[in-house]
Amino acid sequence: MTIRRFSEKKLTGEVLRRIRGTKNKRLKRVMTSFITHMHHFVRDVKPTQEEWFQGIQFLTETGRLERDEFILMSDTLGVSMLVDALNYKANAGSTESTVLGPFHRPNAPRYPLGANISKNRKDGMPCRVTGTVRGLNGKPVPGAMLDVWEAGADGFYDMQKGKAMNLRGVFKADAKGRFHFRCVRPEFYPVPHDGPVGRMLRATGRHPMRPPHLHFWITAKGYKPLITHLFVKGGRYLDSDAVFGVKPDLIVDFKKVKGATGKDSVATAHYDFVLMRK
Ligand code: BEZ
Ligand code: FE
Repeated sequence: MTIRRFSEKKLTGEVLRRIRGTKNKRLKRVMTSFITHMHHFVRDVKPTQEEWFQGIQFLTETGRLERDEFILMSDTLGVSMLVDALNYKANAGSTESTVLGPFHRPNAPRYPLGANISKNRKDGMPCRVTGTVRGLNGKPVPGAMLDVWEAGADGFYDMQKGKAMNLRGVFKADAKGRFHFRCVRPEFYPVPHDGPVGRMLRATGRHPMRPPHLHFWITAKGYKPLITHLFVKGGRYLDSDAVFGVKPDLIVDFKKVKGATGKDSVATAHYDFVLMRK
């Protein structure tokens, strides 16, 4: 038996040779590309042993955190938006998608149209959102389901503070594809930055802020699900979103108007969503 000596140059080819028998074609493609790029990365960066170990420790710590720190890593490195861009190609006229983020919760409360997703007076400035869901042909999509969620004015989502659901809910559009609900006017807030992602952002001279936005996940039979946000026109950080999620067509006016008593401000926003057929 002769034992082959792998030179630095030949190592990549040998690793790729070992996985040649991978039965699952897609997995083979993914692994081949991953190994090739990783080896290229190492040749390019030439890490010391200590640096390599530091990198592994960083990833280990990211995985150990109970919250979705890896989603956050993917988001803050622009990878989530890249995957989104490759998979959701909006046709001319259809609403653009953006990042899902780590704060969506399945099974949010189902509310009748007009309900308020904010349970607390202190959640922020009261806001009313109206709109329609249509197809590319302009026809309404009756019964489209709108799952909406947002952070409060304190910059936190409900799940960052406990188990109780707040500032999220599911609405069903009416027979003309119309919807309306109440919430709070979105405010800018930082993505969680007290862990590895925060250290990465600080070390690379970046801030962790997201511009004010309201999340939507819209589904309807026969249409592609749409995961998107509405961004507040004039809001801070629109041009430097920590997760690269802003698209100009998703920026809307959340107009401030005087409340019923004439004292408190309230806000209103309107948006007509356009879904693509499956
Ligand atoms: C969010 O908007 O909820 C979000 C998106 C990406 C990373 C962190 C938060
Ligand atoms: Fe958000």
